[in-house]
Amino acid sequence: MKLLVTAGPTREYLDPVRFLSNRSTGKMGFAVARAAAARGHLVTLVAGPVSLPTPGGVRRVDIVSARDMLAAVKRRLRFADALVMTAAVADWRPASVSSVKLKKLGMDRVLALEPNPDVLQTLRPCKGGRLFVGFAAETGDPLREAERKLRVKGLDLIVANDVSRPDSGFAVDTNKVTFLSLAGGSLQRLDLPLLTKDEVAARLVEWLEQKRSEEA
Ligand code: CTP
Repeated sequence: MKLLVTAGPTREYLDPVRFLSNRSTGKMGFAVARAAAARGHLVTLVAGPVSLPTPGGVRRVDIVSARDMLAAVKRRLRFADALVMTAAVADWRPASVSSVKLKKLGMDRVLALEPNPDVLQTLRPCKGGRLFVGFAAETGDPLREAERKLRVKGLDLIVANDVSRPDSGFAVDTNKVTFLSLAGGSLQRLDLPLLTKDEVAARLVEWLEQKRSEEA
């Protein structure tokens, strides 16, 4: 399979030294890229600003903002059989970006924002026979929100995780996740035990392989 995987946060600059971002470190996405490459798949990894080494055999494209990520994924989607969006894409960006460092005294106390494009939703019309996988990092009710995103974004699979647990989510090497998918309109749920991110990644790649073979 040819896999397009996204990872890490995006950065939304306000001026040359300040940005809006989030706690994503890219570990989960890099683990997916590594697991897929290890099983012989061709992997392109679109990464936000992270400090992780590129897994062997993986083609890496570095981006900064959500709009860069959309452009990078859009350009490569037609060569892919599956898109796995582990990236924590910033939903908002500053409405204006200054080319020079903003001075404290001249700054407004209210930051005007505008919405970023949703990568999965934007590319939904180009999905064709490709598999689309999303990740839902939640602090509330992970399964309810994940199911909503699975349906709204038209995904084949969503990986739900509760990032309020100390052993799941940002900057740790383990994850407690549930796979949610739809089969003939009914929700399929697979609760995985606490696993390393490498193990979650391997399970995800197996899920994709299985789904692909069922469809062949
Ligand atoms: N995603 C995306 N483009 C965005 C935001 C999110 O493609 N602008 C993708 C993420 O990579 C992830 C999935 O959508 O695979 C769910 O992301 P999440 O941040 O959990 O959800 P949001 O759609 O941003 O919804 P909310 O902020 O309401 O939780």
